[in-house]
Amino acid sequence: MTDARKIIIDTDPGQDDAVAILLALASPELQVLGVTAVAGNVPLGLSQRNARVVVELSGHPVPVFAGCDAPLRRRLVTAEHVHGKTGLDGIALPEPTLPLQAVHAVDFLIETLRREPPGTVTLCPLGPLTNIAAAFARAPDILPRVAEIVLMGGAYFEVGNITPAAEFNIYVDPEAAEIVFKSGVPLVVVPLDATHKALTSRGWVEEMRALATPVGRAVAGWTDFFERFDTAKYGSEGAPLHDPCVIAYLLRPDLFRGRHINVEIETVSELTLGMTVADWWRVTDRPANALFLGDIDRAGFFALLSDRLARL
Ligand code: BDR
Ligand code: CA
Repeated sequence: MTDARKIIIDTDPGQDDAVAILLALASPELQVLGVTAVAGNVPLGLSQRNARVVVELSGHPVPVFAGCDAPLRRRLVTAEHVHGKTGLDGIALPEPTLPLQAVHAVDFLIETLRREPPGTVTLCPLGPLTNIAAAFARAPDILPRVAEIVLMGGAYFEVGNITPAAEFNIYVDPEAAEIVFKSGVPLVVVPLDATHKALTSRGWVEEMRALATPVGRAVAGWTDFFERFDTAKYGSEGAPLHDPCVIAYLLRPDLFRGRHINVEIETVSELTLGMTVADWWRVTDRPANALFLGDIDRAGFFALLSDRLARL
């Protein structure tokens, strides 16, 4: 597709990141210019490896870059308790043959945004915002060139998952999140409020397995592993597919509902570090800086995933 929307996926796979990457690579409306790995769910060595595993699995090779191995100003917090030791536990996949690009992810972000026409590249962060913030801090000239950022992170009514007040991606690097949320770049935030409604069902997982393709088997295996954490913690039916919501929003924004509001990041308080303070009720006069999503059409979302993943 010639008028495909150009995107860069910044990610820390993660089973749900993996499904998001597959959804993007299966979708002709999107042109994935590159996948940039960041430290998050697992350390960078594993996140860049996992990104290459998933890209290779898709059969649509796109370049993979390794980025920052630690948050801007803090020690890395990881989430093996959710995603397993490798970050992609649930099915054994071959070591990737797809090479890691020699260029650093932050340089790739800067060079790509400077090269492509202004307003044509959308950034899709699915992990801590370290790579994006590092690029913005080093090359502020790229800010007006970004078409849009659509990111998974934060929460308001759902409050937090890694602490009582904070969602994982924002908590891991709140200083980076602050840079991004204050950047002035058009921002769509897909928080837990939306993603906790994107719950897999047993029927959908079995539908994936029944595809009997490498992708179908992988998605089923990952989901089987990933859901045990959320079903135990929340008593929910399945696993929340957080990160695929970002790609689904690009493809079908009509599946989501949200509000244009002000969202600020807490970077000081120990108790609420990484909280996304979202002015959902518009009780301040702080200017809106984000479209903050709150609801998703679950059936429509899973129908889209089924359709696209079956193409791989
Ligand atoms: C986010 O944190 C990670 O564990 C997931 O991949 C997702 O990006 C959800 O809080
Ligand atoms: Ca992620």
